[in-house]
Amino acid sequence: MNIEGLSVADFNWIREHIYDFWDSEEMVEFHHSIFVREFRETAFVIHDPREKIVVAYLLGLLPPGRDYGYVHLVATHRLHRRHGLAGDLYEHFFEICRNAGLKHVRAITRIRNHASIAFHRELGFLRAGNVLSGGVPVARNYSGHGEDRYLFIKDL
Ligand SMILES: CC(C)(COP(=O)(O)OP(=O)(O)OC[C@H]1O[C@@H](n2cnc3c(N)ncnc32)[C@H](O)[C@@H]1OP(=O)(O)O)[C@@H](O)C(=O)NCCC(=O)NCCS
Repeated sequence: MNIEGLSVADFNWIREHIYDFWDSEEMVEFHHSIFVREFRETAFVIHDPREKIVVAYLLGLLPPGRDYGYVHLVATHRLHRRHGLAGDLYEHFFEICRNAGLKHVRAITRIRNHASIAFHRELGFLRAGNVLSGGVPVARNYSGHGEDRYLFIKDL
């Protein structure tokens, strides 16, 4: 399936169907319009060619002055998982980062998001952090006080 740039219509559609991607409504607040207004060159979707709906998306950015690209969110519609869609979106983002001369890609995920952890490890990401928890590095307070995250880093 083709990877396309995120449109305003896609962005609104994703927000209106957030439960299908996250099994929760609360993630909608993390879908900031800056990704379609200011960072649309690094935000991508895959559509189902028959139904014309968004089946997967990646919201990324290239932080100024850093040697890495950053993925804010990646998600696949719950009915379309395990078909390689999120992996394809990441490969596309890796290529953009390589072409921009960047050395790494970073992403974070919540400690209990086991699917995301397995997915990022499968793509070759390693965990980084400032403390060890259960023998695994954790980025303590990464997303605010008490908001620990796994910080994933992949060398390109
Ligand atoms: C994590 C997520 C994005 C993966 O999307 P996907 O399109 O199903 O991923 P892919 O099909 O490209 O998976 C590639 C590989 O990652 C691993 N993987 C993906 N999902 C997995 C899961 N639930 N459990 C174990 N391994 C998993 C597998 O090795 C898989 O290859 P395989 O299917 O041949 O075994 C999807 O489960 C999702 O949208 N979750 C909700 C949103 C989320 O948590 N996003 C990540 C945090 S930003």
